[in-house]
Amino acid sequence: MKMNYIQLGDKKMPNDVEEIIRKRRAIRKFKPDPIPDEILCRILEAGRLAPSSKNSQPWHFIVIKNKKTLQELAKTTYTGSFLPDAPVAIAVVLENAKLETDAARAIQNMVLVAWKYGIGTCWITNFWDKAKQILGVPMTGNYKLITVLPFGFIPEDEKPKGKKKRKKLEEIAHSEYFGNPLSFKC
Ligand SMILES: Cc1cc2nc3c(=O)[nH]c(=O)nc-3n(C[C@H](O)[C@H](O)[C@H](O)COP(=O)(O)O)c2cc1C
Repeated sequence: MKMNYIQLGDKKMPNDVEEIIRKRRAIRKFKPDPIPDEILCRILEAGRLAPSSKNSQPWHFIVIKNKKTLQELAKTTYTGSFLPDAPVAIAVVLENAKLETDAARAIQNMVLVAWKYGIGTCWITNFWDKAKQILGVPMTGNYKLITVLPFGFIPEDEKPKGKKKRKKLEEIAHSEYFGNPLSFKC
């Protein structure tokens, strides 16, 4: 199958959704180089265009470049100490959302588009309410901080090698009813 690539400086990046899904990994180390606003716009646009229940679009995206803010935010979670190492982060906040899955659609869109530009990220969760305060998210009303995604160019030695650790398809795909093996070969 012919693969689609885009040239980014001296790098060839995959411009094919299947290839990006295959290659993407959680990235927790970042180059310090700033991400051009033009690329940030594309990442945000990918989030904006995500589908949502009844097209409710219940999300807000807060772009955070201030190092001090990132450092303060990192103190409000125990699973994201690497957050301040990124040059920029995007916090995803849901407002009056019926389904949190809506956020996941927007987040995955942003993650995949970022990867296309050689930019990695990793969901960070487990934030305390203090994080909302730091970001000025209203404490009244129905606002939920879903994640803060650090974004940064992927260092050379962080480039994914080998296959992802995932369950075998036979363990999770069924034909017609639960437990029945797939009727075709993948
Ligand atoms: C909903 C969700 C929450 C996550 N929360 C964290 C987190 O708080 N800290 C972290 O380091 N990684 C977090 N991750 C990253 C996962 O550990 C990672 O995606 C998973 O191990 C699979 O690895 P891969 O993304 O490299 O394929 C989260 C991922 C998802 C989808």
